[in-house]
Amino acid sequence: MNIVRHNPAITRQNRNQQNKHKSVILWFTGLSGSGKSTLAHAIEECLHNRGCRTYVLDGDNVRHGLSSDLGFSQEDRTENIRRIGETAKLMMEAGIITLTAFISPYRKDRESVRNLMPYGDFIEIYCKASLETCEKRDVKGLYKKARAGKIDNYTGIDSPYEEPGKTEIEIETDRLNLKDSVQLVMQLLIKRNII
Ligand code: ADX
Repeated sequence: MNIVRHNPAITRQNRNQQNKHKSVILWFTGLSGSGKSTLAHAIEECLHNRGCRTYVLDGDNVRHGLSSDLGFSQEDRTENIRRIGETAKLMMEAGIITLTAFISPYRKDRESVRNLMPYGDFIEIYCKASLETCEKRDVKGLYKKARAGKIDNYTGIDSPYEEPGKTEIEIETDRLNLKDSVQLVMQLLIKRNII
């Protein structure tokens, strides 16, 4: 490959100094309807109000653009997560606290993203809610369609979700309210000197 890296004069550290906070990736994973987007956006709001630079990459939006050519087979989901991982890494290097809300059902794919970054830059947040709860919520009506056989490969129905083993934060979104869930994440960011 005839491509040589260019070393930038302005580094991530320079950007962090200017922003007065460090950048990191907050990677939300969990079933559809487990509260990933809700939580990611609530945390973004809290961070924004403290003067932090933030951005949420959200499955439901990214699949209209960057990943509009992909479906929900195992290969396509792997490629989706690879693209998001690389995008999130660029955004983190640009100094932004980057929050991602994707089902990201395969452990190996999440680990590949984690391994793109230096240790500590990838914080996995498992939004844990039972399939029963998510199906009951069914905000988009997609579980109902999947059960009726109108959507194939639906996560939790006829496509797997691999739970994280040991992860940075696990939030039982059907037990903990939104405010307390946001606090859990904020506390970790403070403890790690990110904000
Ligand atoms: S991922 O598996 O590749 O991480 P992603 O988070 O981008 O998935 O997209 C999930 C969203 O797409 C769901 O919240 C749901 O609204 C929609 N969707 C459409 N078809 C499916 C499907 N077969 N499985 C899961 N989600 C689907």
